[in-house]
Amino acid sequence: MFEQLEALPDDPILSLIKLFREDLSTKKVDLGAGVYQNEAGQTEVLPSVKRAEAKILEEQTTKTYEGLAGSADYNTAMQRLVFGDDHAALRDGRVATVQTTGGSGGLHVAARVLAGASPGAKVWLSEPTWPNHGPLLASAGIEFASYPYLNLATQQIDFDAMLGALAGAPAGDVVLLHGCCHNPSGADLSTEQWRALLEVVERRGLVPFIDMAYQGFAEGVAEDAYGVRLFAAKLPEVVVVTSCSKNFGLYRERVGTANIVAASTAAAVTAGSHLASNTRRIYSMPPAHGAAVVATILNDERLRAEWLEELAEMRTRINALRRDLAATLAAKTGSNRFDFVADQRGMFSLLGLSPEQVGRLRDEFHVYMVGSSRTNIAGVREANLDYLSDAIAAVL
Ligand SMILES: Cc1ncc(COP(=O)(O)O)c(C=O)c1O
Repeated sequence: MFEQLEALPDDPILSLIKLFREDLSTKKVDLGAGVYQNEAGQTEVLPSVKRAEAKILEEQTTKTYEGLAGSADYNTAMQRLVFGDDHAALRDGRVATVQTTGGSGGLHVAARVLAGASPGAKVWLSEPTWPNHGPLLASAGIEFASYPYLNLATQQIDFDAMLGALAGAPAGDVVLLHGCCHNPSGADLSTEQWRALLEVVERRGLVPFIDMAYQGFAEGVAEDAYGVRLFAAKLPEVVVVTSCSKNFGLYRERVGTANIVAASTAAAVTAGSHLASNTRRIYSMPPAHGAAVVATILNDERLRAEWLEELAEMRTRINALRRDLAATLAAKTGSNRFDFVADQRGMFSLLGLSPEQVGRLRDEFHVYMVGSSRTNIAGVREANLDYLSDAIAAVL
């Protein structure tokens, strides 16, 4: 039967990682894969994670099943991290949370619950968005539409067009938003824009579905959760999916959550049973290790303080690289066309280069970025800023 299958195309980002590994040049620059790298180009295990792992190794007494929702300690700690210690929705018992296999697993599980709860409801995705959003939702049986988001020419959010499109969405439709560090554009909603969006979402009766994969990478843990916390406080129903891949550096451990904020405690309990039943039908239970690391860090005052410092270091470095890259590009190109890089947040920006220019960067200069010119700023180093900026200036 497998002879009838047709080979599927490789994932463009994963293919790029392979090409980069095979490139033997010492000048090569990896701006493709969405992982944080330090100045030495390494994606290290955070020291707080190492300490938590040592503690777990010492203290763990069983490897028995954890349960469909995963670790209760982890879920509670994550609820506090995401919504804030004293959020009304938590106090009122309106939040159902399950541990998921990364943010990707969370998006799919939450989408399956949405599809079951409201067959026919569409999910509205920003244009552009993370390329995996579509497949993760489609495989849950959900249809999607798109709303305008980034104006590539101005590198600003086309907020009026965004609100205009959402104001025309039928009640009950779902709008997928990036909590912070929009991937791929780096263009985030301001606090005023979150409030204006809230008004439209409330008036139209839409359900927000917030993907927060980079909490702490833009301005800080609390600042980056502004939209999530506001929407969960003001609206009866919100879906929030989080990932610990980036902010805890736990990429391969697959740690995330799917949260449903429901209109009442009873509705939250029911929604939680649907989240759990969906994990049962896909992978049964999530892996324990990464979530145990996160729970150990968040529930230990010293480890938590250490982790917050490590997170601040990653954030500060990315924001400094953004400023330095914008300044170096301005000097090398004699124009201010890349100034937006300094103002945007998170790991990614779209440089606005053509696929041909992206190809030349790879073939002539060993600089690897995705065809859309999505650039992982955390892959830039102070040591190669000049080389990289010269290469970009050369292909313009
Ligand atoms: C916008 C967005 N959502 C979700 C994820 C999911 O990440 P993971 O499944 O590795 O936790 C990512 C990772 O790149 C992302 O960029």
